[in-house]
Amino acid sequence: MRIGVAGVGRIGTMHAAHLASLGTVDEVLLYDPVDGRATHAATSLDKARAAKDVTELLEETDGVLIATPTDTHPAMVRSCLAAGRPALCEKPIAADLHQMTVLVAEIEAAGIPVLVGFQRRFDPAVIELRRRIVTGELGPIYHVRATGFDANPPDLGYLPTSGGIFRDLLIHDLDAVPWLVGEPVTEVYASGSVLVDPAFAQADDVDNAVVLLRFAGGAHAVLTGGRHDPLGYDHRIEVLGGKDSVAVGLDPRTPLNSLEPDGPRVDHDAYPGFPERFRRAYLNEMQVFVDVLGGRADNPSPARDSLVSLRLAEACERSRRTGIPVRLDGGSPP
Ligand SMILES: NC(=O)c1ccc[n+]([C@@H]2O[C@H](COP(=O)([O-])OP(=O)(O)OC[C@H]3O[C@@H](n4cnc5c(N)ncnc54)[C@H](O)[C@@H]3O)[C@@H](O)[C@H]2O)c1
Repeated sequence: MRIGVAGVGRIGTMHAAHLASLGTVDEVLLYDPVDGRATHAATSLDKARAAKDVTELLEETDGVLIATPTDTHPAMVRSCLAAGRPALCEKPIAADLHQMTVLVAEIEAAGIPVLVGFQRRFDPAVIELRRRIVTGELGPIYHVRATGFDANPPDLGYLPTSGGIFRDLLIHDLDAVPWLVGEPVTEVYASGSVLVDPAFAQADDVDNAVVLLRFAGGAHAVLTGGRHDPLGYDHRIEVLGGKDSVAVGLDPRTPLNSLEPDGPRVDHDAYPGFPERFRRAYLNEMQVFVDVLGGRADNPSPARDSLVSLRLAEACERSRRTGIPVRLDGGSPP
């Protein structure tokens, strides 16, 4: 099987390396419009070579991973559909709800698999958490807490195009938490502050935020996220149910020090960033992509599901700006 990677920047390079490490992948083709970037990335990988353009990438592969900047995603997905190539597109597949709604309809009409790169859905611990929720092992869900803090803010030049903290950072948990709970969200409240760098205010954004979701069955989720954590990259999800209380992302590398005598302490080995924290998830994401291409797996992150998280992110933005909770009439689809 041959897989194409469009865009070999930060995340495309990582995905290409994971793809090249899979036994079921014979060759990885890389394309990037920046001169020499794809060739350079290919030389450090087994089984990889640079393609001269997107046409070669589409014609000579069985599926394409799209890791280009967000504003290029709809056009890249459409090129894949036109060529009949399944795709895994980095999140988000489109920057606003209108564009995304149109694109999802086109994807579904084409009947070609498009997976969205929400890596929590591919994380073995999150998959196990969902299994325990679905089978009832946790009992009725009372409460969910999700924590998502970057170690350091992104390049400040990125802020004006990021879409803001809810569409850019909290979107991951706005996708994962309703997917885990399996119920529509009926009400959203969000608040945010600028505490890390005034550049966020200049970009009309915040650098720390909290979101309260109320689900149709009455359970609540609290999502917290921000752009700076002095100890490292922290992502956890904790679920309290009627029969058990469990966490993902809580291990010896979690950037959190307990002040209790026997509590956990992280030394110098805290997760520095998302590639390290989600290594197992990203590796499995590539395996699942290849399995979907081979007809051996269902798509766990279909394009339609992205509409839920984007709707919630937009509701969060509205709530933060007005200070008022937003009711979702009829709820967000689960
Ligand atoms: N799931 C995650 O955890 C996660 C993490 C980081 C980034 N992302 C997403 O991945 C995407 C890429 O982010 P990044 O940080 O790797 O960006 P980046 O800027 O580091 O890399 C993007 C690359 O795409 C190339 N490119 C631009 N236009 C192209 C085109 N038309 N065809 C092929 N290549 C093209 C650029 O030259 C660059 O090398 C974004 O949509 C971002 O939201 C997801």
